[in-house]
Amino acid sequence: MQTNFNDSQTKINLMRAFAGESQSRMRYYLAALTAQKQFLVGLERMFRFTADQEEHHAQVFYDLLRDAAGEDITINADFPADPFTDLTQLLDAAAKGEEKEFSEVYPDFARIAAEEGFTEIGNKFRMIAEIEDSHKHRFQYYADLMRSDMLFRSKDTTERWMCLNCGHIHTGSEPPQNCPVCGVKQGFYVREAEAPFTSCGIIDQK
Ligand SMILES: [Fe+2]
Ligand SMILES: [Fe+2]
Repeated sequence: MQTNFNDSQTKINLMRAFAGESQSRMRYYLAALTAQKQFLVGLERMFRFTADQEEHHAQVFYDLLRDAAGEDITINADFPADPFTDLTQLLDAAAKGEEKEFSEVYPDFARIAAEEGFTEIGNKFRMIAEIEDSHKHRFQYYADLMRSDMLFRSKDTTERWMCLNCGHIHTGSEPPQNCPVCGVKQGFYVREAEAPFTSCGIIDQK
């Protein structure tokens, strides 16, 4: 059954998703600033990277609202006030929010969109839900590293760490306190596998 967009629940759900994504983008940007103040540049970049993705989710949902242009849309939703300074708690809260989007909110919105006959919109909710699941795993990964005090420690003595400032690779169970090449603090180091573009050239092109 095709519902008229302007009478649909999907229109309201899109506005709610837009509000949620816009807030996620801002929350992760603020979390990046918190990490920056603590000289944890790897975490800062991770939050900025994820914030950029949330920005584009917001854009996707906003574009789908074009048929409601000029209208005010009322939404009713809960939005969290996350922990402000404790990065482990902040990462846990972010992971929890992503889990909710992945397992409850967007599957529900996808189902309603399909029932109302908006197949394309339903697919967008489903695909973005999958991305939120990857965000959840990313945040949980860093929360676990923080909790176990392993952000800059590895059980593997041949772990490869990359300086995000100059690209220097250090091998060992811990990255250096200061980069021997460019001098920045340890907070610039991430495991090589966590750094962007590090797998270039490794993938079999055949
Ligand atoms: Fe998102
Ligand atoms: Fe997300």
